[in-house]
Amino acid sequence: MFNESPRRKHRVIISTKLPNYGVRRKRRGIKPQKRIILMMEKNTYMINSFINFYRKLNLRNQRTLARILFALINMPVIRYVYHFIYLRHIKRRSKQFPKRLIIETCNYCNLKCVMCPYKAMTRAKSTMSMLLYRKIIDDAVSMGMTEVTISGYLEPLLDKFLIERIKYAKSKGLRVGFSSNGTLLLQNDHLGDILNSQLDWIAFSVDGATKETYEKIRIGARFEDVVDGVKTLIQEKKKMHLSTPEIHLNCCVQAKNYDEVNTQRRKFYEVFKGADVFEFGAVSTRGNEGERLPRGSDFETPTKIRKHIYPCYTIFNYIYCLPDGIVALCCIDYDGKFRLGDLNIQTIAEVWESNQYQIVRQKHMDGRGAEIEMCSNCKEFELSSFRWWQ
Ligand SMILES: C[S@@+](CC[C@H](N)C(=O)[O-])C[C@H]1O[C@@H](n2cnc3c(N)ncnc32)[C@H](O)[C@@H]1O
Ligand code: SF4
Repeated sequence: MFNESPRRKHRVIISTKLPNYGVRRKRRGIKPQKRIILMMEKNTYMINSFINFYRKLNLRNQRTLARILFALINMPVIRYVYHFIYLRHIKRRSKQFPKRLIIETCNYCNLKCVMCPYKAMTRAKSTMSMLLYRKIIDDAVSMGMTEVTISGYLEPLLDKFLIERIKYAKSKGLRVGFSSNGTLLLQNDHLGDILNSQLDWIAFSVDGATKETYEKIRIGARFEDVVDGVKTLIQEKKKMHLSTPEIHLNCCVQAKNYDEVNTQRRKFYEVFKGADVFEFGAVSTRGNEGERLPRGSDFETPTKIRKHIYPCYTIFNYIYCLPDGIVALCCIDYDGKFRLGDLNIQTIAEVWESNQYQIVRQKHMDGRGAEIEMCSNCKEFELSSFRWWQ
């Protein structure tokens, strides 16, 4: 999904920290190739500024720019240089232990959104026990992980332990956030609980800026409930002078809302005025359940040129855990078919170092990731030509 900040008040959260590589003199002894990589990394600030600029463009211009970039990195000589530098960078980055844990704390949802594979899920429905959750969080902290995201195929507001989970992860110093459809926000005490939980961010999925479009996609939801809920949250947060949670609005761009996003994007900013971040990302074929964009549309990822050359960013940088403690490949694996370990009986480090996980990562490192069936048709994977610079 793409962040964007159409006006200054819609912030885009991108780290602008520059790594410290020590004094110049020290660098003289470094090999030329390594120096180029360090230089590229030091330019993270420039790269992030460019990403910010990209996200402010409309879909058509984003698409054109992406095409130009893809064409550029595939020109004969540049292609070789880019490949060389980028792969070296990836190799270094891939040795680091992931910083982010994604936990699907339950797998219940109250909607049947058209593009979401939730309705096709065949695995058993359950809620993760607090005992297992605490064990996993402790484990993550001991491995130096810094972020936990409650996500997957669930509506987090249906998880009766949600607030307890947020507070526990916060007490361990983790950055915590979750994505919600927002339909239940004004029910029970959700709103007050969220505001008092020290949650870092919350993302609401709103796939339309009008009732008509939104309800065509989010089957079972009422547009007014979400708009009222989000607006009230924004007002209450302001009244309480809180800086968190950051409020994100995510729109999954697909055939049914494509025109609205492209021609009436301002409407999103007007309806959800006061939100911190707006993200518009293309639908993906999760388990081939996703509804494709119109053919040749401007928001399809321009990936024909160099498909599946670079290792997938997701599998190296996130660990994805299901309510029963099973570690699955990633969020594309909605039915938990690709099992990489079991956190009931293993530590996160043991799962990460397991043979199976290593084979998957090695295949990706060798440029053979597409041999894994689940990876062969995946949008996230396709985006890896740039993502490792993040
Ligand atoms: C699966 S939902 C779970 C959290 C919550 N129920 C919600 O709707 O935000 C997480 C995110 O995945 C997005 N999503 C669902 N199906 C998708 C697909 N086929 N392609 C891309 N994003 C998808 C949703 O729009 C949502 O922003
Ligand atoms: S996108 Fe979210 S709200 Fe919609 S069906 Fe999937 S899990 Fe439920």
